[in-house]
Amino acid sequence: MTIKERVFSGMQPTGTLHLGNFLGAMLQWIELQKTHECIYCVVDLHAITVWQDPKELRRSIRQVTAAYIAAGLDPARSIVFNQSQVAAHAELAWIFNCVARLGWLNRMTQFKEKAGKDRENASVGLYAYPNLMAADILAYRATHVPVGDDQKQHLELARDIAQKFNGDFRAGIEERGHADGIFFPQPEPVITGPATRVMSLRDGTKKMSKSDPSDLSRINLTDDADTIARKVQKAKTDPEPLPSEPDGLKGRAEAENLVGIYAALADQTVPAVLAQFGGAQFSAFKKALAEAAVARLAPITEESARMMQDPAAIDRILADGAARAREIATPIMDEVKDIVGFIRA
Ligand code: AMP
Ligand code: TRP
Repeated sequence: MTIKERVFSGMQPTGTLHLGNFLGAMLQWIELQKTHECIYCVVDLHAITVWQDPKELRRSIRQVTAAYIAAGLDPARSIVFNQSQVAAHAELAWIFNCVARLGWLNRMTQFKEKAGKDRENASVGLYAYPNLMAADILAYRATHVPVGDDQKQHLELARDIAQKFNGDFRAGIEERGHADGIFFPQPEPVITGPATRVMSLRDGTKKMSKSDPSDLSRINLTDDADTIARKVQKAKTDPEPLPSEPDGLKGRAEAENLVGIYAALADQTVPAVLAQFGGAQFSAFKKALAEAAVARLAPITEESARMMQDPAAIDRILADGAARAREIATPIMDEVKDIVGFIRA
């Protein structure tokens, strides 16, 4: 049996989404809707691997849902839902906790970064996070996962888990008619798009992130035009004018980042941007960059603010998405339980 192509991806409802999320992941999500069956999740179970204020969390789940839809995800065509409403995620994650090996998780760089020096005090959930992410994808037997560059290692782990599960339970999988012995597909990362790694506006060597303490480091999808202009104005640069060829960006992390962002926002290539702005001072370029960011983001910000006025409508979209997600995940989980040797009710 060949496994049908299916897209799955998710974002954490912690803080507000930023330009890195938008350019690194969401543009691909929107594009893939044209060609694929797509499932887009607000991963609230992942969010609580670090402390979340319950009231804030609830607001963030709705805010991220609104941003998804305002940016162009169509809940009629794609499935949009929040993870905790579909039990399959937590159930399959437990099974994967028993498939993945400690040694595999010990290699995860994101855990090391997030846990920092106080590792003994990190939650067990933060450590097991990649197993839950594998469960998110494989509960739907999804084949394609559009993400930013930072998620590559987690996807490799998901592939290892799929492969080990298929191997460990090969006999039962074949018995159930999966003749090639493949129950879970190897999910493919889709790390493409104009800017797979958007860097901080304050430090071109650090990625733009929700968790950066400085709000000046990122452009949020909730920032108004003045705030965007101010943040771009304050973005770190070097004293040289812009080069006219991409080679001239080498060793100039901040310049490279701003040019990349502009290219992505204006739908242009980096060489085309440099052909236009080569020799210009950053002050002139920053003006154009702020304008491009506002033109692209303002409609999304306005639409999500409008949607946030009616939280009940957002909750209805999430409930509908969860029902449709369950329809796909439940029969897959039933089969997983049979394969593992559980007795179903
Ligand atoms: P997160 O904000 O960690 O939930 O990430 C959600 C999605 O956005 C993931 O696919 C990330 O890879 C992507 N992403 C987050 N930050 C960036 C960034 N600075 N540049 C590019 N992609 C990003
Ligand atoms: N770990 C991802 C991030 O921090 C979010 C995520 C959770 C995800 N589950 C997923 C992404 C499944 C893709 C597929 O960005």
